[in-house]
Amino acid sequence: MKKALIITLVSSTFLFAQTKEKVEVPYVAFPIKMGKGFELIQANCLMCHSFGYIINQGRQSRKFWREKVDKMIIHFKAPMDEASAKASTDYLFEHYGNGKEE
Ligand code: HEC
Repeated sequence: MKKALIITLVSSTFLFAQTKEKVEVPYVAFPIKMGKGFELIQANCLMCHSFGYIINQGRQSRKFWREKVDKMIIHFKAPMDEASAKASTDYLFEHYGNGKEE
């Protein structure tokens, strides 16, 4: 019983561990490019996930972006009509495109 008490006391001290050093949280600017079509992305994409998914793809072709938008619509049921899908693709290609159509 005594042993159990000691073990409990010793192991729980970790829960109260504190650091005297100042913890600095780095500031990371999230490079979202505003501009025409951004509201569409905000309305059509950010309801399900963060912008990180988009940025992490790097610069890609128009075809790539169109396929991603279609994937979201077909597989994940993103509620988007053709006009929004096209405009979103335009935005993505303009800001995160590599200049290539295919
Ligand atoms: C209905 C929910 C939903 C909407 C709306 C949505 N997505 Fe996604 N998206 C997902 C899910 C779920 C995943 C994660 C898939 C995985 O983990 O494999 C994802 C993943 C992604 C990825 C990562 C790459 C990949 O192929 O999985 C990209 C890029 C992406 N989404 C872009 C978009 C864009 C651009 C829009 C808006 C035009 C959008 N998404 C709208 C649900 C959605």
